[in-house]
Amino acid sequence: MAKAGTMEAPVDTAKDALEIRDTRTDKTYTVPISEGAIRAADLKKVKTDDADDPGLLSYDPAFLNTAACRSAITFIDGDKGILRYRGYPIEQLAEGSTFLEVAWLLRHGELPDQSEYDQFVHDITFHTYVHENLRKFLEGFRYDAHPMAMLNSSVAALASFYPTSAHINDPTERNISIIRLLAKVPTIAAFCYRHLKGLPFVYPDNDLSYVENFLSMVARMSEPKYEANPIFVRALEVLFILHADHEQNCSTSAVRAVGSSHVDPFSAMSAGVAALFGPLHGGANEQVLRMIAEIGSVKNVPKFIEEVKGGGGKLMGFGHRVYKSYDPRAKIVKKLADEVFEVVGVDKDLEIALELERIALSDDYFKSRKLYPNVDFYTGLIYRSMAFPTEFFTVLFAIARTAGWMAQWEEMLLDKEQKIARPRQIYIGPAERPYKSRIEHSHSIGPRTQKDALRQ
Ligand code: CMC
Repeated sequence: MAKAGTMEAPVDTAKDALEIRDTRTDKTYTVPISEGAIRAADLKKVKTDDADDPGLLSYDPAFLNTAACRSAITFIDGDKGILRYRGYPIEQLAEGSTFLEVAWLLRHGELPDQSEYDQFVHDITFHTYVHENLRKFLEGFRYDAHPMAMLNSSVAALASFYPTSAHINDPTERNISIIRLLAKVPTIAAFCYRHLKGLPFVYPDNDLSYVENFLSMVARMSEPKYEANPIFVRALEVLFILHADHEQNCSTSAVRAVGSSHVDPFSAMSAGVAALFGPLHGGANEQVLRMIAEIGSVKNVPKFIEEVKGGGGKLMGFGHRVYKSYDPRAKIVKKLADEVFEVVGVDKDLEIALELERIALSDDYFKSRKLYPNVDFYTGLIYRSMAFPTEFFTVLFAIARTAGWMAQWEEMLLDKEQKIARPRQIYIGPAERPYKSRIEHSHSIGPRTQKDALRQ
């Protein structure tokens, strides 16, 4: 198993190759195949006789079939429904591990021994506090600010508190930045929650475990010590483990791409938080609950499914770019949901969710497109039953994904093959044309109208 050290380019010993015949020129090219891939850069040598031809590009919008890195962190087999972190099946980690043990594993490649783990937990615990000015910064948001917008800007703001984090080639700086992020993101997240609720911020309690402390900062009122429901603690621990990494998804790719400019890790991670905010990514669990609220009752489910099939929107929490049989995380989450609902009871939303799942799984539209419930289908219901507001769900996802983003960020930095991310394009705009302005150049913006005032 590769340790988080410098990644070397693969040594090409295999004889496997792809022969390509260019029908434009009738020339044949041999392109080596290594690790099941050809290098897109090898296609550059496929050229016409035109001296200006820059060579063949591969065109792959949304990276449907392009590997942008070699990674030793997470393995997914979408057809078989397999997810492993550093070789360990997600089911086993969810059963027996802690989130911090998984965070260590993702970054270092091996499970921590006792002394490594104790030191790691100690370091994380003693970096949970945030600078008071960051607290004030959070207080500056409007009462109804979305907590993901708050989290995103606060994570970016951390770069201003720790300017030496810009020294990304220094392993000590990288280490402390990663510790700080893992330690402070739950604090910032809890502060966002308290702001949303109009409640005073609760400072970290370093006597508590990672998850218990987070729940204390979220829920503590006047009691001197917060005691979280152990079922909720374990449920959140498992959900954090399930969300800790998921190889080259949209937000991780954003962290890698932004990090490839060699910006500090806080700025790189804020790009990941922004990507996660989107309804097609981490925002989906929020959308699942909004969709269920819109459906309103079990009897409306068939009509809703018909609307989806007719192109009137998507069934949120269904489908996945990679998993085309089932999402192994969804299986674990469903079991977890049963345990949580045993404590808090089943509500009408769960009944609607179960009916949606039942009908969709037996419907040809969903079966033929290999659309199965993904991890987000049930997480929202669990979070809601734990009394988290809908807007906060994606923030919980972000706390967990911090571990993966940072492991992937460091792997990218140590990978000698990586450079600044810079995709190519196929230009489809106008050919050269002379500039002839169609406007009068003036600085006047005209008087402020009633419409302007309403737009403010
Ligand atoms: N409901 C209805 N139809 C769907 C859905 C859905 N949830 N997802 C895909 N389809 C249809 C889609 O319209 C297309 O149909 P057609 O072939 O007739 O045009 C076909 O299935 C293939 O879909 P696609 O858009 O090419 O698939 P994709 O791999 O680009 O998209 C996805 C993957 C997750 C963005 C998409 O399935 C989706 O939008 N799902 C709902 C949002 C969601 O639950 N996202 C959470 C993903 S898991 C957590 C995470 O990664 O953050």
